[in-house]
Amino acid sequence: MSHTNVSSIPPFPVSRPRRLRAHPLLRELVRETTLTPRDLILPLFVRPGRGVRREIPSMPGHFQLSCDTLVDEVGIARALGITAFILFGIPESKDATGSSALAEDGIVQQALRALRKAYSADVLLITDECFCEYTDHGHCGVLHERRGAIDVDNDATLPLLAQQCVSHARAGADIIAPSGMMDGMVQAIRTALDAAGFSHVPILSYAAKYASGFYGPFRDAAESPPQFGDRSSYQMDPANGDEALKEVALDVAEGADMIMVKPALSYLDIIRRVKERFPLPVAAYNVSGEFAMVKAAAARGWIDERRVTLEILTSIRRAGADMILTYHAKDVAQWLK
Ligand code: PBG
Repeated sequence: MSHTNVSSIPPFPVSRPRRLRAHPLLRELVRETTLTPRDLILPLFVRPGRGVRREIPSMPGHFQLSCDTLVDEVGIARALGITAFILFGIPESKDATGSSALAEDGIVQQALRALRKAYSADVLLITDECFCEYTDHGHCGVLHERRGAIDVDNDATLPLLAQQCVSHARAGADIIAPSGMMDGMVQAIRTALDAAGFSHVPILSYAAKYASGFYGPFRDAAESPPQFGDRSSYQMDPANGDEALKEVALDVAEGADMIMVKPALSYLDIIRRVKERFPLPVAAYNVSGEFAMVKAAAARGWIDERRVTLEILTSIRRAGADMILTYHAKDVAQWLK
């Protein structure tokens, strides 16, 4: 990360960069970026039922799981060295406000209790905090009509979001990760967590989340596509970079402990700019579409899956991500063993 004065480097033939590439051990010695299973967070999808293991067609190797099979899956990942997980819920029923997200026996609440019971403090459980999986319209909050258009009502969504977070903290979440891109969400959540006795629970804010086509497979996995319109009135325009710094600055000011950039691969410049500007841990979300592209090309024999995956994840780390949410986590842990 330090800034070399490039003009002070002597020219060829004094400088021969290949000297440091000749021996594999020397290459390892001078390697600037590391990638280990401890840097990775595995996303998991939980739904009601028992013994459920429903394959997600666009995300090979990933399943919608019930609480019991989820416990097994976490055990397998843990044995490979993965210790952090982010949970997404597919509820029994959906309504206009996403009320099942707040229920004490909601699907994510049940999953948290089951995992806490099975693994105690040996795993880090992160919860995605949003309403798109729980609303019948598939938007990330409650709706209202303004100037003839239906849109997410920012300020009416905040107290519901705060309730969801408190409920997850009570059920055993270690880290609260709001992803709905509502203005003021971090402040609302921090205040509610503190008031409920969870001042020790950190917030990982999806601070710079773009309105991206790369979320396609996820919306099948979480059964959460918007039923009309898109998310452009709350998620960011992919053309904007400075705005990401503003979003991050606001979330930091509101009390975010860690911040996220999402997606990762088309936004490496944003990861880098955020990392250089803010003294907080930065997470990057290597999203479902990025994963699916690699899997699809590898299945056709067009790319070397292992090599390309490790190269992608290393590039995200090199850009400045301290941690990566990725569906490749189990594969990578196996390869690095
Ligand atoms: C939503 C949420 C989304 C993802 C994570 N949290 C979807 C969306 O905003 O439409 C996407 C993750 C992925 O594509 O892997 N609350």
